[in-house]
Amino acid sequence: MMVRHPRRLPLLAFGMVALLTGLWAGIARLGWDMPLPRPGFSSLHGPLMVAGFLGTLISLERAVALGRLWAYSAPLLTGLGAVGLILGAPQWIAQVLILAGSIGLVAIFAAIIQRHPALYTFTMGGGAMVFALGNLLWLLGWPVFLVVFWWAAFLVVTIAGERLELARLQQVTTGAQATFFLLLATLLAGLLLLGWWFDGAVRLFGAGLTGLAVWLSLNDIARRTVRHTGLTRFIAVCLLSGYVWLGLSGLAAMVYGGVPVGPQYDVILHAFFLGFVFAMIFAHAPIIFPAVLGARMTYRPLFYAHVVLLQITLLIRLGGDVAGWGPGRLVGGALNAVTLVLFLANTITALGSLPDRPAVTIRQQS
Ligand code: HEM
Repeated sequence: MMVRHPRRLPLLAFGMVALLTGLWAGIARLGWDMPLPRPGFSSLHGPLMVAGFLGTLISLERAVALGRLWAYSAPLLTGLGAVGLILGAPQWIAQVLILAGSIGLVAIFAAIIQRHPALYTFTMGGGAMVFALGNLLWLLGWPVFLVVFWWAAFLVVTIAGERLELARLQQVTTGAQATFFLLLATLLAGLLLLGWWFDGAVRLFGAGLTGLAVWLSLNDIARRTVRHTGLTRFIAVCLLSGYVWLGLSGLAAMVYGGVPVGPQYDVILHAFFLGFVFAMIFAHAPIIFPAVLGARMTYRPLFYAHVVLLQITLLIRLGGDVAGWGPGRLVGGALNAVTLVLFLANTITALGSLPDRPAVTIRQQS
């Protein structure tokens, strides 16, 4: 594979190690008998997936976009934090590193906002602040079942910002913009209430997620571009499927309320993290990986394999959760992990291929 920026590879590798180790821990947490380095390792699943993998990937992508050397300290710090968690360093050290990395991401956005003060940069900057605050609460001893909503808010706000940027959604009407901010305020109100009224706060947060799912479905150009062909349609299909899962996660949060563990918690979290967040990663991977690595990527219809498999395996898992059908949850969950490995394989092999057209054209198609 020809990569123009090999020095970014170690940072990407930190994220990938966090992803694969986090998946391993997640499968163990489902109940599969997996060899683990030490007791309690499976509790690292959530922090490795969100703070380790996504925190590193998103800060790396933004550091590349900013193009300043200091900005790479953000993915370096979150990546080192993830490695610390894996190697069993005292948890507070890993948490401090991750917090420092997320403050680095806030600094990156401050610099980006200075260059481009726009709705989408402010939105993503707000997402980074929520990430840093969530990590601070985690360091201060908040349990992961509360911090996870701060992490989820970081992701949904960042992704909404990405869509504003990539799909030029900033041309939405003033009314739609006002609704967008109202929905973000609902999410924020849910977050602020978490420490006092867990149940009501999760339901309010769920209302914000559901509203955002409807808002994104109505305003994203994916509704039009899904009628195109090739990569453009692929991206639109991923986005629209993701918005459906986002809505389902929000509805589940509204119905179930505050649950700290178990099948209902699983439905709220993984409709969001797998159904929504990974659909967004699938959609943006053909744009982001070439940009980060300076490599070329060819779109292949084979990419639909991981998208379709994600829908089927997630339906089995979350259907199992809802129906109290243990084997469905167990097998569906393990197949979710297989799907993500298939996605990585499809992406890496496509990166090695010769291009149909340059990466910049791919960006314009989204
Ligand atoms: C792909 C396979 C995955 C498996 C097998 C898996 C498994 C699990 C399990 C069993 C739980 C505990 C749920 C319960 O109490 O019943 C959990 C929680 C969680 N998962 Fe996953 N998960 C996967 C993917 C993901 C992804 C992709 C993310 C994020 C991007 C994620 C983030 C989380 C978080 C943040 C928690 C909460 C952790 C906690 O409360 O300590 N998971 N996962």
